[in-house]
Amino acid sequence: MASPSSHSPASLTAEPSHGLNGRIRVPGDKSISHRALIFGTLAVGETRIGGLLEGEDVLATAEAMRRLGAEVTRHADGTWSVHGVGVGGLREPEQPLDFGNSGTGARLVMGLVAGHPVTATFIGDASLSRRPMGRVISPLTQMGAVFHAREGGRLPLTLTGAQPALPIRYKSPVASAQVKSAVLLAGLNTPGVTTVIEATPTRDHTERMLRAFGAEIVSETGKDGLLAISLTGEPELTPCTIAVPGDPSSAAFPVVAALLTPGSEIVVEGITLNPHRAGLYTTLMEMGGDIEVMNQREEGGEPVADLRVRSSRLKGIEVPPARAASMIDEYPVLAVAAAFAEGTTTMLGIHELRVKESDRIAATASGLRANGIKVRESEDGMIVEGRGGEAGGGGHVTTHMDHRIAMSFLVMGLAAQKPVTVDDASMIATSFPDFEHLMRGLGASFTGRGQ
Ligand code: S3P
Repeated sequence: MASPSSHSPASLTAEPSHGLNGRIRVPGDKSISHRALIFGTLAVGETRIGGLLEGEDVLATAEAMRRLGAEVTRHADGTWSVHGVGVGGLREPEQPLDFGNSGTGARLVMGLVAGHPVTATFIGDASLSRRPMGRVISPLTQMGAVFHAREGGRLPLTLTGAQPALPIRYKSPVASAQVKSAVLLAGLNTPGVTTVIEATPTRDHTERMLRAFGAEIVSETGKDGLLAISLTGEPELTPCTIAVPGDPSSAAFPVVAALLTPGSEIVVEGITLNPHRAGLYTTLMEMGGDIEVMNQREEGGEPVADLRVRSSRLKGIEVPPARAASMIDEYPVLAVAAAFAEGTTTMLGIHELRVKESDRIAATASGLRANGIKVRESEDGMIVEGRGGEAGGGGHVTTHMDHRIAMSFLVMGLAAQKPVTVDDASMIATSFPDFEHLMRGLGASFTGRGQ
């Protein structure tokens, strides 16, 4: 591991920048991109995808779909097509499925394979190989799949799907769209009705897309107040044309950078503001962020809007824990915004952050401390003492193979008094390959990698 002061070839430094200005489009939504490839594989015929995120995570899923029998092609105009094999039609892969850094790819495809009579081996990078898979192994085992995993349910693992799988009614102990989606994917090639019950509703892209592909899927809130999502198995899925909207989790970085850097005004076009994804924007507005939501519309079954963002003086708030699922990937960059706010920002109910690409509570807290910010860390949260618009910077941040830690602290460096260096910017390519280029286009200044 790099020492805090070393400059590896992958390190990158964000320099204090003058105002950020311009109009941008961020890359396609990562969650929707994975699902478009996976559901396209289960439809018979050609699914066309526009705006697919061409980040490493999604490209790994595309390759996995090829290994499972789909024909996946990128066309010269940047659109993609998937010729699917149909529900029940997966081919047994000859080689392991390598998901790189992607928990979403690995867990969703485990659900897909669990409902088919094939055996597949799942591998990933060092970060993914540390992450818990028990949360999907448990329900998929109940459905009849057989897993051989490393100690603690970690990758690499080998999975033999059930034949036929059994429908289950599953109440997930964790608020996780990945778990919900894995069970529903397994339920597709399962006779009868598979139901997932959510205590806390999570992103619903799987449900929306399954409906668009013609599956029978019903979401209803029971007398107990819990949301039950029921899927009727063995549908014939019809291919779709999918326009992937911009990713609000990627837009978070230029948006926070513009709020924090004095003299900024940017427009981010075409991001999905699906209510299960928009929690950061609600929170930033409550903190006093000048964010105007414009041109609200619906595209490809998802609510979409443009955002105009101007630099703002933020104030600290208590973020409601009930909002966590709708902004789960945005806490690191929110913590950076909190460092510049007047007063304290409290973020609780975020234990899940400990099992993301890195332990994001620990990585965020130590990155903030390296830049002179006071932060208290608890098992399920963090409390950041804001510096009232004048966060110092000057730190070297260890990113632990986590793209969002890298981008969050680069955003900090643009707005701080002194530059901020991250030890490894290479993981940014998993979700936002164009980050540096796009931010430079707005006026951001970076040194290091490739200079
Ligand atoms: C995702 C769900 C979230 C999120 C991840 C993408 C998805 O994970 O953190 O980046 O596409 O379903 P959990 O559902 O496990 O919280």
